[in-house]
Amino acid sequence: MTDEMPAPSTDQPPMRAQDYSEALDWPGYFAAVLGKEPRDTLVAAVDAFARDGVLEGLAIDLAAGEGRDTLELLRRGWKVVATDGHPDAFTLLWPRVPEAVTPRLSTLVATFANTQLCECDLVNASFALPFCEPEHFPALWRRIVSAIRPGGRFAGQFFGDRDTWAALPGRSHHSEATVRTLLEGFEIEMFRVEERDDAPDVRNPKHWHLFHVVARKR
Ligand SMILES: C[S@@+](CC[C@H](N)C(=O)[O-])C[C@H]1O[C@@H](n2cnc3c(N)ncnc32)[C@H](O)[C@@H]1O
Repeated sequence: MTDEMPAPSTDQPPMRAQDYSEALDWPGYFAAVLGKEPRDTLVAAVDAFARDGVLEGLAIDLAAGEGRDTLELLRRGWKVVATDGHPDAFTLLWPRVPEAVTPRLSTLVATFANTQLCECDLVNASFALPFCEPEHFPALWRRIVSAIRPGGRFAGQFFGDRDTWAALPGRSHHSEATVRTLLEGFEIEMFRVEERDDAPDVRNPKHWHLFHVVARKR
């Protein structure tokens, strides 16, 4: 028997995708989300194209990550230019692309500051824009808008000014009014505001404030 106090437990709740995102640990993030389903905003945008009779356009998947949305676009017959700042994204993506559709995919390792965007039907930016450094955001948004053909769409998320991560350096967060201003020139098809707190028992609880957007360029 000993009367020493037991060492304090170092057990912590497991790291989740959001913990890797907060730390900008992209390989950790890719491993945490590998194989997840496509984002609702991407699915809604592609469904809207299908309703318009457009079944195989050209999409730019901006900051595509390990490729959950790119794989869905390819599955639905689209051509895709997938970009990301981290090369591991495409190391994970390419082996999961069916050989028959590889001619429809090109990948580009580039940062938001220097990504050139070709003319396209869809710019998909799922959970991507908040990670653009604020000094590069206005030019990136201008490039996004001018890349989308009239009748084309933007799909993705903007993070709000009440989100916990708005206080982190190097992030781009916007008020709802600013997002709506950015979307002038678009007909808004989805604008879903998500604002909630994490459960207190997760590793690093945060306040979420984000806007899920699908918009059609006039
Ligand atoms: C939260 S992940 C989203 C990935 C994917 N779109 C998804 O929905 O899962 C953010 C992505 O932004 C990329 N990223 C972060 N900073 C970047 C930068 N400065 N330039 C380009 N990509 C960047 C990361 O590599 C990562 O793939």
